[in-house]
Amino acid sequence: MGFNAIAIDGPAGAGKSTVAKMLSERIGYTYIDSGALFRAITLKVIKLGIDINDIERIIFHARNSDIDFSNNKIYLDGANVSEKIRDNIINTTVSYIAMIPEIRDIVVEIQRKIASNKNVVVDGRDIGTTVFPNAFIKFFLTASVEERALRRYNELTDKKKHTLEEIKKQIIERDFIDANREASPLRQAEDAILIDTTGKSIDEVVSEMLYYVFMKGEKNFVI
Ligand code: CDP
Ligand code: CDP
Repeated sequence: MGFNAIAIDGPAGAGKSTVAKMLSERIGYTYIDSGALFRAITLKVIKLGIDINDIERIIFHARNSDIDFSNNKIYLDGANVSEKIRDNIINTTVSYIAMIPEIRDIVVEIQRKIASNKNVVVDGRDIGTTVFPNAFIKFFLTASVEERALRRYNELTDKKKHTLEEIKKQIIERDFIDANREASPLRQAEDAILIDTTGKSIDEVVSEMLYYVFMKGEKNFVI
């Protein structure tokens, strides 16, 4: 029997990881945060002080890293790095690391291995187009850039450190790099369901997605 993959792609702050986690819990699937994999590799590069132009060293260290998910936490070489990978320094560097085709191959392999023996919900940028082109169902989430920036700003614990304008600028820059890179850019798959989450609550978005999942034939809901 094959296993199902549900793909959720879209730009930063669209709400992918929030709804992916909730959806996975409702249908008993395992959640894979593909962005966290790129973030963990980026953390390693920064920790080792590797120049981001030193592609060979980056690839070498990524290949020799042990990255694993357990209970929705991410481990890098045995250490729980779930919080460290959210540092702002990672936000501004990760898209450069994610441009490297060999790094993308490593991350694709990790995701396919996890999905080889269980049903998964995966969020990212290239899930429906590259990682799981035959996904059971594909979603593409968007929201206006103003709303996405505000969502991210509201998450900040220390709002004095960054302005809303600064966060918005970072998001626009990261989206631009992600959508314009050569290797599997951020793109809506032809068969993906587009959901504009601007002005919608998290529950509304999850309900909408559950409806489509149900219509596709997954009737195994955890109430
Ligand atoms: O949560 P947020 O949207 O801020 O980012 P993320 O999902 O953690 O992804 C961080 C970065 O990793 C993105 O901006 C992309 O550069 C890269 N990424 C990617 O290239 N492909 C994916 N499938 C997931 C993330
Ligand atoms: O993964 P992605 O970058 O697409 O977004 P996220 O990390 O899930 O962050 C989205 C933020 O917006 C979270 O703080 C959510 O609580 C909030 N939010 C949402 O996800 N969906 C809505 N419809 C409204 C708000």
